[in-house]
Parts: sequence; structure tokens; C-alpha cells
Amino acid sequence: MKIILLYGGQSAEHDVSILSAFSVLSAVYYNYYQVQLVYITKDGQWVKGPLLNEKPASEEVLHLHWGSAGDTDKLIQPCQIKEEDAIVLPILHGPNGEDGTIQGFLETIDMPYIGAGVMTSAGCMDKIMTKYILYAVDIPQVPYVPVLKSQWKENPKKIFEQCEGTLLYPMFVKPANMGSSVGITKAHDREELQQALVEAYRYDSRVVIEQSIEAREIEVAILGNEDVRTTLPGEIVKDVAFYDYNSKYIDNNIKMQIPAQIPEEAQAKAREYAKIAYTTLGGSGLARCDFFLTNKNELFLNEVNTMPGFTQFSMYPSLWEKTGLPYGDLIEELIQLGLNQYNQKKKFRIDVGE
Ligand SMILES: Nc1ncnc2c1ncn2[C@@H]1O[C@H](COP(=O)(O)OP(=O)(O)O)[C@@H](O)[C@H]1O
Ligand SMILES: [Mg+2]
Repeated sequence: MKIILLYGGQSAEHDVSILSAFSVLSAVYYNYYQVQLVYITKDGQWVKGPLLNEKPASEEVLHLHWGSAGDTDKLIQPCQIKEEDAIVLPILHGPNGEDGTIQGFLETIDMPYIGAGVMTSAGCMDKIMTKYILYAVDIPQVPYVPVLKSQWKENPKKIFEQCEGTLLYPMFVKPANMGSSVGITKAHDREELQQALVEAYRYDSRVVIEQSIEAREIEVAILGNEDVRTTLPGEIVKDVAFYDYNSKYIDNNIKMQIPAQIPEEAQAKAREYAKIAYTTLGGSGLARCDFFLTNKNELFLNEVNTMPGFTQFSMYPSLWEKTGLPYGDLIEELIQLGLNQYNQKKKFRIDVGE
């Protein structure tokens, strides 16, 4: 069988995607699979790379370029990835990859793929939508105020009053559809709130303003379609107050503690909430559910990532490794879950048609 590995992509997490792709390439069971590389450039071109039958010697194999002399024939239309006996692994993070757009495209060309479907991907990417859905099932979340750009433009004073009436400074201002902390600012007063809103509206017309809380960051890995498994939580231990883009990818001053050294009750609660959130949002394949834990042991769900960082050193695979599922076996499970999901959906379609 062939794994079509889609990586790169038009988001701030382009480079992380390349690292994740290399980890996957290094761990695939090549006695069962071939890997077809398909690179999506930062401006959205699709480039067909080599077909691998064995582990490549270096990450170089992933650095495909289109446009240099002799390379132009590698440029493909997205629908040209369609083939029989293959499954797509869209190892893409953020907008245009993790938000349902790629998933919808793969549904349209009728290809099986790994991970969350259209609705779940889109619902988890949009921070406002996630909050509304999780509110319906009583999952605790930090207090927040959603603000559309049109509302802000119409009456900024009303928005300030609404935020200051509901929340205390400092507040976190976030574009609803982003990732990697892009466009997120911590605002300490009204002036900073105003600047933070302007910044956030550069990335999305939907913005959410949240109460900032002092808390530890706890993450749970989830795997499954109908039968859902969770890991013990891990902790992102940071020596920075705000886990921003630099600290995530550049400064590297983040450590992981697996399992998180937190009370058993908090572990159990985090796993329970993760499972409820995942099933409510219609998860399939995988997700990483992120929480805040205060020093009073209050737990708040922050977000659900449907394509979490997937390098061998990332939290998601590390949590499974610690739970007894090594990286190669994890990929194998994800492939089987993707195929099951595809066959299941196909059955639904046939039932309706008959
Ligand atoms: N309400 C909050 N209180 C305290 N810290 C926060 C809050 N919201 C976000 N943060 C910090 O900002 C980081 C990024 O926010 P997050 O909502 O996870 O966005 P992203 O989707 O970009 O990962 C978090 O990991 C955390 O360090
Ligand atoms: Mg996050």
C-alpha cells in the first residue's frame, strides 16, 4: 500500500510540518508501505516528489523546489494525487491543512486519509466555535468574549465595556483561526487591548478575547474513531509566561514532563474532559487536547488540535510512546483508523443510495 505524505503547506507551521514529515519517513514500516512525497509550497503549489521504498538517508529528500530548471514537470494539480490502494497522511498544521479544507478536498476526490474529518477539523480550528460546542457539554473553559470585526468597527467603546465588564486584565486576544500563537497578544490595559485587536484582525475577522490565567499547561493525547483511548497527561514546562511562536519553535526553551506531575484527580479529569470533547466534536484518528491547570487544581480546556506536532520529539507521539505505543506502531494504528473511517463512510453512502 502507498502512503501519500502531504507536507509543507501554506501556514506558519510549514517548517514544523517538514520536521514531522521526516520523522514519519524514518519510522514507516517499509516492508508494508511505500511513501509518495507531495510537498505543498508556501504559496500553495503542489510538487510531486520521489516514491520511497526505504528510509531516506537525510531530510534533504523533503526539500523539493519547483521552478528551478528541469523541475517544472514535478508540479501537479492537487487532484493528480488520486490513486487506488493508497491513503493520504496530511501532515499539515494550521490554516489550509488542519482546518477542514484539505480534508474536504480529499473527500471530494474520494481518497482515504488519516485524521479528523471536515467538520471536526474546522470546528477545532475555530476557537470561538470550539468554545460554543464545548459549552454545550459543560467542559470548563476560561471566561471569554467573542468579537467579530464588524462589531468592533461599529462600536469599539461597547466592545471595551463588554470586555472590561466580563474579564479582568491581563487578557489574551486571539484570532479565531490561527495556530502557533500567531497573532496572539497579552493585553494589560485598554490601550494594549486596542493594539491587540488590531493585530488579531490582521489574521482573521473572528477574534476571541480571554481572561488570562496563571496556570500550568497540560496536554492529553487521544487516539481512535468510535473507541477512544487517551494517555496520561504530559506537561509543557516553560520558563516563559506565554508560549508564543518564538518559544515554541525558535528559542527551544520548552521542556516536556511525561507524565505530568499533577494530582491523580486532575489527571483523571483531564482525560475525561479530553474524551468528552473529542467525541462531542466528532473526532477521528487523533487529536491532542490542551488544558490549563491552576494552582487550585482548577482545570480549563484550552484547545483541541486535530493535527498536533508529530516529530519524534513532539508531545503527541511522546505521550503514546510512554503509554507503550512506539512511534512506528502509532503510524500503523493511524493508517488502520483512517481506512476504517473511509470504509465506514462509504457504507453510509451505500445505505442511503439503496
Ligand atoms: N487564557 C490564557 N491564559 C494564560 N495563557 C494563555 C491563555 N491563552 C493562551 N495562553 C498562552 O498562549 C499560548 C497559545 O495560545 P493557544 O490558545 O494555545 O493558541 P494556538 O492555537 O496558537 O496554540 C498558550 O499555549 C499559552 O501559553
Ligand atoms: Mg496552543
